[in-house]
Amino acid sequence: MTRNALHFLRLGRIVRLDRFPPRTTLLDWLRLQGRSTGTKEGCAEGDCGACAVVVVRERAGRLVYEPVNSCITLLGQMDGAELITVEDLADDGTLHPVQAAMARQHGSQCGFCTPGIVMSLFAHYHDCNGASSRERINDVLAGNLCRCTGYRPIVDAGLAACNGGADDRFTRSAAQRLAALRALDDASDLVVGDDASFFAAPASEQSLARLYAQHPDATLVAGATDVGLWITKKLAAIEKVIHVGRVAELADIAETADGYEFGAVVSLARAVPALGSIDPDIAEVLRRFGSIQVRACGTVGGNIANGSPIGDLAPMLIALGATVELRHGEQIRRLPLEDFFLDYGKQDRKPGEFVRRLIVPKLPPNTHFRAYKITKRVDEDISAVLAAFCLTVTGGRIGEAKVAFGGMAGIPKRAKAVEENLRGLSLGDVRRWRLAADAVNEDFTPLTDLRASAGYRSRVAGNLVVKALAEIAGAKSEATRIVDRRMVADAAG
Ligand SMILES: Cc1cc2nc3c(=O)[nH]c(=O)nc-3n(C[C@H](O)[C@H](O)[C@H](O)COP(=O)(O)OP(=O)(O)OC[C@H]3O[C@@H](n4cnc5c(N)ncnc54)[C@H](O)[C@@H]3O)c2cc1C
Ligand code: FES
Ligand code: FES
Repeated sequence: MTRNALHFLRLGRIVRLDRFPPRTTLLDWLRLQGRSTGTKEGCAEGDCGACAVVVVRERAGRLVYEPVNSCITLLGQMDGAELITVEDLADDGTLHPVQAAMARQHGSQCGFCTPGIVMSLFAHYHDCNGASSRERINDVLAGNLCRCTGYRPIVDAGLAACNGGADDRFTRSAAQRLAALRALDDASDLVVGDDASFFAAPASEQSLARLYAQHPDATLVAGATDVGLWITKKLAAIEKVIHVGRVAELADIAETADGYEFGAVVSLARAVPALGSIDPDIAEVLRRFGSIQVRACGTVGGNIANGSPIGDLAPMLIALGATVELRHGEQIRRLPLEDFFLDYGKQDRKPGEFVRRLIVPKLPPNTHFRAYKITKRVDEDISAVLAAFCLTVTGGRIGEAKVAFGGMAGIPKRAKAVEENLRGLSLGDVRRWRLAADAVNEDFTPLTDLRASAGYRSRVAGNLVVKALAEIAGAKSEATRIVDRRMVADAAG
């Protein structure tokens, strides 16, 4: 069954749109068509949070509130969801508790960032079960830039509003809104437009496979946290969009005896508990992956399919020995993730083929994992270098070694010479650590760019080899790290 109009909920009513250019962003629609100008445009690239709105969907029988950056979200991605903007919060003229706390605590000066900050805190108000902390609010606001107020009063407002339990008109109307969302979920394929220009959102994997095989020139969109910028910054003339976010078969996380299988459209936010259970360093890298808004939309499949040399997942998953599953028409194939990346901008993916699943093993016994994300600032920054280590240690000696780096080459890549130097190395043989570290220079000739110079990249990559060895040999992360300390005792025996 095919539906030819987008539908979503706003203010208790169904919005239906049967005609819109496929690359229309949610922010443009809100401001230009909806005249909802409370939502602001700052950077138009997902970085500042001025445009944050809240999207509500049903997950496991409950309503989940997530802040998203409307500047890089496509209008069509709203299908089947509820949209809440800053204009919708007040209840009959009375400010929402988050808005009231922001006013009381003097959390706003020029006010440009305020709608976005209020929306991020509003999502947290509904998400935190009435128990927040300064640390959690700092994370929630990592993607909201305020240039004039300073964050102390804003965080105080968040603490005042979010501790104590949600009680607003959204909690009171939850049952009706849940029923309305369920009524929108008609499991039909969405196509708005014609053969030359369309926004499509198939509801099943079969429909996706058929449609993409028919239109291999279409742009696949998952969370749009990359594609959105092609539209707002490169002004890319994208005419055919296939949104994969509604395909239920690609949205599951399955745990097996020895690993996890992630459907390609699982968001980074949803992937954190499972990936983080493999090793706490993965959870910490993901905590610093973009912002809460980017992680709510960005998907594991998008982070791999984009082929970025500085994507955070790829080096970690390569070190873990992950497999990627692809589908073209009726054909499904699997390959080791490291073989998917062929060259800069080139992946082993045919026209019309899509990423279906990622299969990620858990750590076998006696195996130690470490991952380090090196950026210019701690929060919401793209990696200059990302290093991931997976070392098997028996009797103080390294057996198997898988080491992968991002930011060191045109693709995320194994460091084969480093690995060779690590195999057989006794963790007590500190003099040989440096030899293993220096092997980075045999593996990589990195580039200089705005994030880091080639010399810095090589040096930091070598130092990370030493750091991983020191930690696995028993050095406490209190001694080796300023942030992202490991709260587990797991030194090699
Ligand atoms: C402010 C900001 C901060 C960011 N910070 C980080 C960061 O810290 N670390 C990091 O790694 N990245 C970061 N990114 C980049 C981006 O968020 C990630 O790469 C994200 O995982 C992309 O996923 P997506 O679902 O949004 O992909 P999309 O933008 O929807 O798609 C990305 C690419 O993958 C293709 N694609 C998507 N799904 C599939 C599929 N199933 N099969 C085949 N092709 C597909 C698309 O056609 C496109 O080429 C950031 C982006 C922004 C805007
Ligand atoms: S305008 Fe800056 S994140 Fe959207
Ligand atoms: S109040 Fe001016 S940018 Fe935040």
